[in-house]
Amino acid sequence: MVADASLGLHNPLGLLAELTHRCPLGCPYCSNPLALDPRESELATPTWARVFTEAAALGVLQVHLSGGEPGARRDLVAITAAAHAAALYTNLITSAVGITANSLRQLAEAGLDHVQISIQDSEHASADRIAGYVGAFARKRALAAAVVNLKIPLTVNVVVHRANIDRIEQMVALALALGASRVEIAHVQYYGWALQNRAALMPSAEQVARATEAVDELRRRHHGEIVIDAVVPDYYARLPKPCIGGWGRRSLNVTPAGKVLPCHAAESIPGLEFWSVREHSLDDIWKNSPAFNAFRGTAWMQEPCRSCARRDIDFGGCRCQAFALTGDARATDPVCHLAPSHDDVVALAAVQEDAPYAYRRM
Ligand code: SF4
Ligand code: FES
Repeated sequence: MVADASLGLHNPLGLLAELTHRCPLGCPYCSNPLALDPRESELATPTWARVFTEAAALGVLQVHLSGGEPGARRDLVAITAAAHAAALYTNLITSAVGITANSLRQLAEAGLDHVQISIQDSEHASADRIAGYVGAFARKRALAAAVVNLKIPLTVNVVVHRANIDRIEQMVALALALGASRVEIAHVQYYGWALQNRAALMPSAEQVARATEAVDELRRRHHGEIVIDAVVPDYYARLPKPCIGGWGRRSLNVTPAGKVLPCHAAESIPGLEFWSVREHSLDDIWKNSPAFNAFRGTAWMQEPCRSCARRDIDFGGCRCQAFALTGDARATDPVCHLAPSHDDVVALAAVQEDAPYAYRRM
């Protein structure tokens, strides 16, 4: 349903609840910001409960309980119960380190609807090295088995980059063996931590071409068995992704400390004013906060987006990427072949080196 499409104002459908930035893992492509929220600043359980009620009233259907590692919150069961009580579909996005079979059972009783487990690789030594945590791979396998045992639908999420992109077939086989109904092959998005590690994570053009062929073949082979989601990685695409379905159009993120962002990387754009759930209702933030209105609709666009036939399809691509690569958040996403700075992306994709990772640590 459209709230007021003429103003570019739709109802949000999804809420990403970043319950904490604490996490035992240190993935070098973590989507959390470089400046992590400390534990003392995290929202309390009743505030999350209010946010869920306000989200449901605004039209939100799904809440993604995320982090950091949401299992680091001792009140995760109460938070899940509050989301369920607000009639939201609840998806737990977890590294699996911090959730036990026992806590999973309590979450299921509290109304948890779905679990997404991230896997760093199909080979355990490589998986633990990428996660920066010895033993992570074994914990993931154990939690996946517990999820399936409780008959909770499971998605496996694999972030791919130069160290693991050649094992997509093995990762899909692993997802099938774990009993997942869906596997997401997500290429690294180069903001924040991943931007710091870009040269170490960047796959080659040959790797990307092989991966694309592998996904096509695996989709044919496993049709009806498992859903395989995958897209071409940004730096090798000719057209940009419609990032987050358009800025301030379908989703919102609440940070551990309560700031509400249009996307997880929005704080990387300087000068945006974010409002907090501590001072404003979600409805007020969605409709009136300066950050949400900054890139709604098409009036903010420059050429070539402004007069492009795809402007209502991809919304000019990703604002955070436009800023990271051009210094101007209103610029056309340089991933687009029509962008004046597209050649810069091609040149950056060619910079690849096997350097040690800068791990995300708190
Ligand atoms: Fe999308 Fe802008 Fe490129 Fe057109 S010019 S395809 S709207 S990013
Ligand atoms: Fe912020 Fe794409 S990640 S708009």
